[in-house]
Amino acid sequence: MTNQLLVEADHYRTLVDGAWRTPASNLYLTITAPSDNSIVGYVPAMGQAEAVEAIESAKRAQKAWAALPVHERSEILIRAAALLDERAEEIGSVIMREVAKKRSSAIDEVKRTADLIRFTAEEGKRVNGQTLQGDAFPGYNKNKVSFVTRVPLGVILAISPFNYPVNLSASKIAPALATGNSVVFKPATQGAISALHLVKAFHDAGLPAGVLNTVVGKGAEIGDFLVQHPDIAMISFTGGSQNGSRIAKLAGMIPLVMELGGKDAAIILPDADLDLAAKQIVSGAFSYSGQRCTAVKRILVHQGVADQLIEKMVPLIKKLSVGAPEDNADITPLISDSAADYVQGLIDDAVANGSSLVTGGRRDGRTIHPTLLDNVTVDMRIAWEEPFGPVLPIIRVSSTEQAIEIANASEYGLQSSVFTQDIGQAFRISEQLEVGSVQINGRTERGPDHFPFIGVKSSGMGTQGIAYSLQSMTRQKSMVININ
Ligand code: NAP
Ligand code: G3P
Repeated sequence: MTNQLLVEADHYRTLVDGAWRTPASNLYLTITAPSDNSIVGYVPAMGQAEAVEAIESAKRAQKAWAALPVHERSEILIRAAALLDERAEEIGSVIMREVAKKRSSAIDEVKRTADLIRFTAEEGKRVNGQTLQGDAFPGYNKNKVSFVTRVPLGVILAISPFNYPVNLSASKIAPALATGNSVVFKPATQGAISALHLVKAFHDAGLPAGVLNTVVGKGAEIGDFLVQHPDIAMISFTGGSQNGSRIAKLAGMIPLVMELGGKDAAIILPDADLDLAAKQIVSGAFSYSGQRCTAVKRILVHQGVADQLIEKMVPLIKKLSVGAPEDNADITPLISDSAADYVQGLIDDAVANGSSLVTGGRRDGRTIHPTLLDNVTVDMRIAWEEPFGPVLPIIRVSSTEQAIEIANASEYGLQSSVFTQDIGQAFRISEQLEVGSVQINGRTERGPDHFPFIGVKSSGMGTQGIAYSLQSMTRQKSMVININ
């Protein structure tokens, strides 16, 4: 599958205007594996001139792409999904090495992405409008009818994060293409090789030249230029809140969908099924070493059941395997030294300020062993900051009202979990939580990918999730018929 078009001697090319290109500067960024510093490959360090070429190519190609019958666009997406399924093991191995995701999860990410693209291809055929009758409004009659359709926005800039380098890229690219937009795609640098394999699947599926173009390079160097380019009609960004906020200030008057950071709280009520809660929280907090925006990142538990919950969680945490992604370990090295330093700093701050280290607290290089901190208070950094690592603080509360107050005091508002067997209580609490989604008796998570995925406050703006992305990447257009 990987041939000279995509890579030669570990040096990857990027797709611009239908051609696999080497960087004009001949400069490359070295991608090393977080788990063993081995070289995964080299990706182009593209500059502004190449970015302009990519954007201009997308602009040229967009109209003809939009003019294709939607079922033809859909067929190309379905072919791309089939290629991902065929290549799942190979691309999964790349994800595993590039972002230190355990092998089974990396392969699952590719298969999940194929399912996402197929679902999007189908839903993309049902992006319809409506007709409005003039006589519904006083003073008008049946001789005026509005035909409202949904039309593509133009060139969409898709920017994706490292932690799901294939799935969170396709969650933008697929709906954009399905609705007749063209795409300029900027992957996370650490994840760019995985992302380029996704791009190759779209290309091999028969995308016309210019419909999908990649701009690989450091976001800090090329990002501002991309987001401010006048030919960009919409930006779909997933990443940290700081970068999201920067982009929102720079982008100007174009539609934005931002999926940003999180500090998802699991609220445990006295009547909760603690076995269920323990399983869901441990899975939610520590899968992919906590490097999920939707990870459970704090527990707000009633004082009266806190000890019982901890007793149930500790053996589950201790069962988590720590090691290499190649060995399918649950806890693998974090994405970078700086990421590990940051997580360790939060742990050190909490312990120094009086929290109890229940389990974990050990670090081997970039690997932070799964860590549970009890008696965390609101004046500790870990109570508020997003670790993006395998550390979970427990804040004991004396009432449900206190739990809701602390949950809502966060700058973030992605998701929350509520564990209770009283469905009325669950609804009442859910209504009060300032987040995009509330999980009742389940871990916080984005999937399934057709559910709405919403961030509020510092967690973002707009809604992802297949049908919602199809809507956000189109706009209404009204044609009014005046029957004379
Ligand atoms: P990040 O550092 O913000 O990077 C995200 C993307 O933005 C990357 O492609 C990055 O490029 C690019 N970028 C960096 N600076 C930019 C700029 N000035 N203009 C435009 N683009 C720029 O995030 P990450 O480390 O990849 O992911 C971790 C963060 O993302 C966490 O906060 C996590 O919560 C959040 N996240 C949120 C979701 C969600 O759905 N809500 C999902 C996943 C992750 P480079 O890689 O070249 O720097
Ligand atoms: O942080 C990435 C986010 O999209 C996680 O997806 O389904 O694992 O919650 P999921």
